Amino acid sequence: GFSDIDDDPSDSEPEISNIENNEKNVVKEEATTDNVVIDLEENLNVKTKPSVEGIESKKIEKSKNKNKNTAIKKTKPIKPAVYVDVLRTEDVQAARLKLPILAEEQQIMETINENSIVIIAGETGSGKTTQLPQFLYEAGYALEKQIVITEPRRVAAISMSQRVAHEMNLSSRDVSYLMRFEGNVTEDTKIKFVTDGVLFKEMQEDFLLKKYSVIIIDEAHERSAHTDMLLGCLSRMVPLRQKKGEPVKLIIMSATLRLKDFIDNPRLFKIPPPVIDVQTRQYSVTTHFNKRTEQDYLKAAYRKVVKINTTLPEGGVLIFVTGQREVNYLVRKLRKTFPLRHKDKLLESEENEKKEETQNNEDEEDCFDDKKKIRGKRKKIKVIPKINLDDYTTFLDSTIDNLSNEEYDGQSSDEDDVFDDVTVYRTAQPLWTLPLYSMLPTHKQQKVFQQPPIGCRLCIVSTNVAETSLTIPNIKYVVDCGKAKVKLYDKITGLTRYMVQWTSKASANQRTGRAGRTGPGHCYRLYSSAVFNDEFPEFDTPEIQLMPIDDLYLQMKCMKIPNIAKFPFPSPPDTLQFTTAEQRLEILGALKNGKITRLGQTIAKLPVSPRYGVMLVRSNINNLLPYTVCLVANLSVQEVLLETPLTPNDNQKETQKQWAAVRQRWAGQGNSLLLGDNGMLLRAIGAAEYEHSKGKLQEFCDRNGLRYKAVIEIRKLRLQITSEIKAHYPDYSHLVVDPKMEPPSDHEAKLLREVVLCGMGDKLAKKVSLEEVKDREDKAKFKYAYWANNMKEPVFLHSSSVLRRTLPEFVCFNEIYETNKIYMRGVTAIDPEWIPIHVPAICNLSEPLAEPPPFYDEKSGKVRCYVTGTVGSQAWELPRTEIQ
Ligand code: CDP
Ligand code: MG
Repeated sequence: GFSDIDDDPSDSEPEISNIENNEKNVVKEEATTDNVVIDLEENLNVKTKPSVEGIESKKIEKSKNKNKNTAIKKTKPIKPAVYVDVLRTEDVQAARLKLPILAEEQQIMETINENSIVIIAGETGSGKTTQLPQFLYEAGYALEKQIVITEPRRVAAISMSQRVAHEMNLSSRDVSYLMRFEGNVTEDTKIKFVTDGVLFKEMQEDFLLKKYSVIIIDEAHERSAHTDMLLGCLSRMVPLRQKKGEPVKLIIMSATLRLKDFIDNPRLFKIPPPVIDVQTRQYSVTTHFNKRTEQDYLKAAYRKVVKINTTLPEGGVLIFVTGQREVNYLVRKLRKTFPLRHKDKLLESEENEKKEETQNNEDEEDCFDDKKKIRGKRKKIKVIPKINLDDYTTFLDSTIDNLSNEEYDGQSSDEDDVFDDVTVYRTAQPLWTLPLYSMLPTHKQQKVFQQPPIGCRLCIVSTNVAETSLTIPNIKYVVDCGKAKVKLYDKITGLTRYMVQWTSKASANQRTGRAGRTGPGHCYRLYSSAVFNDEFPEFDTPEIQLMPIDDLYLQMKCMKIPNIAKFPFPSPPDTLQFTTAEQRLEILGALKNGKITRLGQTIAKLPVSPRYGVMLVRSNINNLLPYTVCLVANLSVQEVLLETPLTPNDNQKETQKQWAAVRQRWAGQGNSLLLGDNGMLLRAIGAAEYEHSKGKLQEFCDRNGLRYKAVIEIRKLRLQITSEIKAHYPDYSHLVVDPKMEPPSDHEAKLLREVVLCGMGDKLAKKVSLEEVKDREDKAKFKYAYWANNMKEPVFLHSSSVLRRTLPEFVCFNEIYETNKIYMRGVTAIDPEWIPIHVPAICNLSEPLAEPPPFYDEKSGKVRCYVTGTVGSQAWELPRTEIQ
């Protein structure tokens, strides 16, 4: 069985011919990146710190500019010779002229022409994102090479590319976007909005990013892990391009927040780059603290909106809560409280709008068959100012199916009861209430930019996506709960937990600022000023210090960055984060003694996290790959299976029972069952796709507790991962994904269990007798327990796991998370004999046993023997195992 996966188990690198090819490429690349390595080292040895005291005063900045110019002006700066005309409409031009950044165009362009690195700081809405690419385009920067702008959020990349195309009167062929699983870039693209992760991946292929003349890092203050990584790499790349005589411009755009990390940071930029502060016309916002801090902030927020809408003058309301569940809850409640009336007025019916809706749905449906079709249609999504009531109703229904249990802490599942005693204000002004969060489909997010119907007050309930990256027009009142949902992650055990906690002072002030864009405004903080002063941290912790960095670490190894701990991160991660990342990558076989292996090189190129990459590479046999692609796609999408019905349901318990029965049926028997939750999902997706081909997907999902949008997303992912594999491995050009997948055979299911172990070898758990946990006082609560490697607490199988009845001896899991107990998610049963073969790095093996003696195996041509040993930090005893 095992030998068909890997015929040299003592070495964790797979023997697959196309990976050999790949290695040749890698060697070639090394030759070109060698110079980079040397330069990186050179640049990291910053001995003399430049003086960087005063960054506030503009005078000091100016003198620094001079320093900078003399320091790097050796090679020719890009001097635009041509001015490229842009034919804007009058409306657009009039709107642009009102933006504060327009007044600074000349100063900005002079500074950019004279310096290779420039920071542009300015409040949200000042016009940075939409205007700077246009300035550069007009100055000829897009004539030979492209202008690229990174956004930390997918929402922003799409909406900004559309907005800029619209303002410039260009099509999406010229101003395009690209993100991991989606994009509309063409060979004509001049201005390209990308997510920061995409540009970081591009840097691994071409460290010098030669196709760009300008790189703009937008929203740098958000401090996403990829933005931080990019800034570190770019700080070294820019001087290299200078040296090569192909200079590039790096522009960092940020809200006026924590600029110190970029300027006063000699490890990042030896000479502090000049800062241009775009003065914004920010109207005054009156901040009202609550006297008491409300425990139930949803109730408090609701009451505040009721008060605003019944007593205060015209003006839009923006409410900040913590997650999409809360958003949907408040939206529904407010819609019930302030219903729409004047039905006729709203029905400025425009067939257009309806068509648009159906087209978008088609996009989602058809993407599997024809990728080009999406591209064609995407272009048509545009902001349409007219809204009709039908649309509003479908919108209302469809937002409800975006509820995610992931984000939901399990409190109010009986939320519909709450609505029964809502007072309906029929005479008050109707509220045009819209949700906004990052998981919401783009065309629905776009609705916040549209005019509300005549006579309605705009009301947007949002997560923190509205904090900085999107500017919503006409907001006069902000209601801020002061909290944010953070995914906390234990650096040693990998345990994850969602916590709602106070946001930072900086974030709260950003939220407040949203009320003063178009006129004086008010911000209602649902907490006291004492809490704000004493308990809010100054800034949010940068993402890179909060999450596992395995992926980034591997990418850096792949880029041959020496001494990663010394890499110029704007804020370096903890040493513990480096060591645990290194350990996990060693276990996966992606690193060996700190050096990247061939397997590591291969998986670094795949668009999925390292452990899933390992699974893909290891299933390169027996036509297993299509299954693994699906398995990996399933694992990458959250909440595919629903836990509770989305629509109010009389017999919720009954429905859940039916779903459980369906899931047990999907789980199958034998090895399929042991493949566990991962196998069950595989069959669920296969079944769903079969229904899809009959046009009954939505109905099937509703009936069987699958989240429709997740199923669609998985289909896109399977397609994308497959085309990515084909692109890297010519041998696989014949690989096709048949959405309607037959369930794996028993033998295939067994091989898949081994494949899963290859990717999740560091996440093992062993069933223990209750004796072993008996000193715990809460012991009575459980009938069984598992010990997970590294964990000090027992962990459990969730009641929704298909292995809950089987309780296998050894399992591996995708994630552990804590709610009321610690649960494993994505569980597969494994055979302990496989551990030394697939995950040798966590085993302590004995010398070969004398009895039976080692023997020569003709089939593999190797000597085989028996050993015993222990596994992992808990030193679990292994059974006698045969190895080569
Ligand atoms: O990047 P920054 O926050 O400085 O501003 P921006 O995103 O360039 O936005 C400039 C202006 O364009 C704002 O007043 C927005 O309201 C407007 N805008 C818009 O009307 N529609 C969009 N899709 C994007 C921006
Ligand atoms: Mg912006």
